[in-house]
Amino acid sequence: MSEMSFDFDTPAAKQVSNSLKWSKYAGRDILPMWVADMDFRCPPAVLDALHQRVDQGVFGYGTPSDELVGVVVDTLQQEFNWKVEPDWLVWLPGLVSGLSVTCKAVGKPGDGVVVNTPVYPPFLKVPSLMDRTLETVSLSGGNAQGWTLDRRRFEAGISDKTSLFLLCHPHNPVGRMWTEEELTMMAEVCMDKRVIICSDEIHNQLVLDPVRRHVPLATLSPGVAARTITLLAPSKTFNVPGLGCSLAVIPDEGIRRRFVHAALGIVPHVNVLGLTAAEACWRHGGPWLAELIEYLRGNLEYLKSRVAAWPSVTMAEVEATYLAWLDVQALELKDPASHFENLGVGLSDGREFGGPGHLRLNFGCPRSILEEACDRMEEGLS
Ligand SMILES: Cc1ncc(COP(=O)(O)O)c(C=O)c1O
Repeated sequence: MSEMSFDFDTPAAKQVSNSLKWSKYAGRDILPMWVADMDFRCPPAVLDALHQRVDQGVFGYGTPSDELVGVVVDTLQQEFNWKVEPDWLVWLPGLVSGLSVTCKAVGKPGDGVVVNTPVYPPFLKVPSLMDRTLETVSLSGGNAQGWTLDRRRFEAGISDKTSLFLLCHPHNPVGRMWTEEELTMMAEVCMDKRVIICSDEIHNQLVLDPVRRHVPLATLSPGVAARTITLLAPSKTFNVPGLGCSLAVIPDEGIRRRFVHAALGIVPHVNVLGLTAAEACWRHGGPWLAELIEYLRGNLEYLKSRVAAWPSVTMAEVEATYLAWLDVQALELKDPASHFENLGVGLSDGREFGGPGHLRLNFGCPRSILEEACDRMEEGLS
């Protein structure tokens, strides 16, 4: 690996007093490879901006500045050739809140919400919490063959009651960054059946595939954009999820009005440190992000080489995200997550994603931790 200017080798989060990820196993020798945040310090430029904001000493309610809105508009244009208008942006303290607000804003109680399994667990929970009916369409293929969405299966999974499709793009946990062709198919089916799409693109800048680029669903055409709510955040990319700052991009005025109304009285303002961090991430985080991607690619190659030597485990191709989806069905374990926890590795249980027999491993950590985790897992494979 070439010389790095930023430090990704020190397990910084381990020392943090209130880390959800590390406190789960406090006092036990279990490496936390579960919840999706990384063990790295965020970009130094973000820390500087936060220090300056803290030194102002006043923490009244915040509002997104024109500078923040400007940097979002510029970033989306530069990164994805996506031209958005400032008034399309609706700010949120979290992406999961955005999923809930979307369910509430679209359709009516009892309506169907389609999701593709396996998927990030809140996709499975949010519809019923918002009085909607969860409708699942499983992805086709698997870790060995590659994961896809079959058109016929997708069409058949959309019922008369369906008003919303929750898309995860790039997809957590299977790591797919959907191609323009696949997105076009999804959009065609949804347009045809008059279904609104909510595209969760929280992992949009964590592209590990060296050749491909992330295509926002809403860039397919103005018609698709008018039926799409896109959810974004700097949180995963720059490792600031604890600061709670996200946004929805909603080009259609009517949908935007319903979305804002559905959030009223429930969703709080974004906190001032989150707003400060978001601006610094997108304005100054580029050099840090470039090195992060290089580091994560190195971790991915390392992990792939270890898993390739385990005949009973297969791993999905990771095009984006720092999450690896492992198929351990061949091990025939009753409770795979507990099995590996007992060996000192804390993984996410596939059952929570609608993927029993699978585990999700977060490799957004120093290489030394990943190596130790692989050594420990290997002991439980015989
Ligand atoms: C696809 C996806 N959406 C949303 C979230 C969480 O977003 P937030 O913490 O802003 O609610 C995650 C976190 O892992 C995620 O992977």
